[in-house]
Amino acid sequence: MSERSGAGGSHLGRTSGVAVVGWGVALPDTAVTNADLEARLDTSDRWITERTGIRERRIGGTTGQLAAAAARQALIAADASPGSVELLVLATSTPDQQIPATASAVQDALGLSCGAFDVNAACSGFVYALVAGAGTAGVGARRVLVVGADVMSRITDQGDRSTAVLFGDGAGAVVLDAVEGPGQLLGWDLGSDGSLRHLLQADVGGYIRMEGKEVFRRAVRVMVDSAEAAMARAGLTLADVDLLVPHQANTRIITAACERLGIPMERTAMVLDRTGNTSAASIPLALGDAAQSGMLAKGDVVLLVGFGAGMSWASAVLRWGP
Ligand code: ACO
Repeated sequence: MSERSGAGGSHLGRTSGVAVVGWGVALPDTAVTNADLEARLDTSDRWITERTGIRERRIGGTTGQLAAAAARQALIAADASPGSVELLVLATSTPDQQIPATASAVQDALGLSCGAFDVNAACSGFVYALVAGAGTAGVGARRVLVVGADVMSRITDQGDRSTAVLFGDGAGAVVLDAVEGPGQLLGWDLGSDGSLRHLLQADVGGYIRMEGKEVFRRAVRVMVDSAEAAMARAGLTLADVDLLVPHQANTRIITAACERLGIPMERTAMVLDRTGNTSAASIPLALGDAAQSGMLAKGDVVLLVGFGAGMSWASAVLRWGP
């Protein structure tokens, strides 16, 4: 066994925090605008924009390709060699194959030689993967690559106007380094209510089906509850949030959650209008966009909040900065 693949052994028991030292995003080249959908479905730009906030979504590629592209960028940004990564966690609910995990293909594409596995918590997946990845730092992993990637277009019936207008494809990634002390992950909250799994589902080989109104109603409530729980765990209040990075499913859901949390939209990361709902990719895409556009400064408190099929929900509080 190589020294790399033995991560954890000699450090087991040491408790470390993590720091985000690099991030990357990837979107397919092909844009599908509301006008494109208008041309082939019984829908309108006005309906889609008013009801969802989405103007276009990107379609194409495979989950593995998009994940590898975002992860490669994150490694470059972190100045991290592939050999230094000690664990890859890929959040997706659209794996390229049933077996093996898509993380295996990403590992191969990037030339990594570490453990690699997929996490499926639907649209909450990236935050689940982040918390799981950070947890391994507590038992000795020194560098963890966390990716959220989904090709929702593959499980969306493009002839069904109630779902075809909502979803898109993409990926986002972060590199986490173990650091001495508490690190940047200040608090988290992961939750699930499996009795609600009928609200949003796709059978193996089938298309996504959703009770949109019911998902909407519950999404706002679980976002607010989860955000409050994570902030309390971090020992902070909602007034301390510098940037909210919510799951990008519907502008109306985000607006309603922001109102209840008392966080203004100016302090909320939004990419939904350009990406649609990219499931596990949506939070790292919005985080990357916020970082790129100068919305984040060293020391900022960043609150990630996801919800999705399961129903699942997940929040994480990060202290941004090198
Ligand atoms: N264009 C035009 N009309 C449409 C469209 C469309 N694309 N889609 C639905 N309609 C019609 C419906 O048929 C309905 O018509 P009717 O009144 O004649 O019956 C009318 O618009 C209203 O439909 P609703 O479903 O009631 O519309 P609503 O305001 O609830 O918006 C939406 C629908 C956008 C899906 C909303 O409910 C929503 O965003 N829900 C949450 C979805 C979500 O977040 N899903 C992702 C979770 S993440 C994950 O895990 C993948």
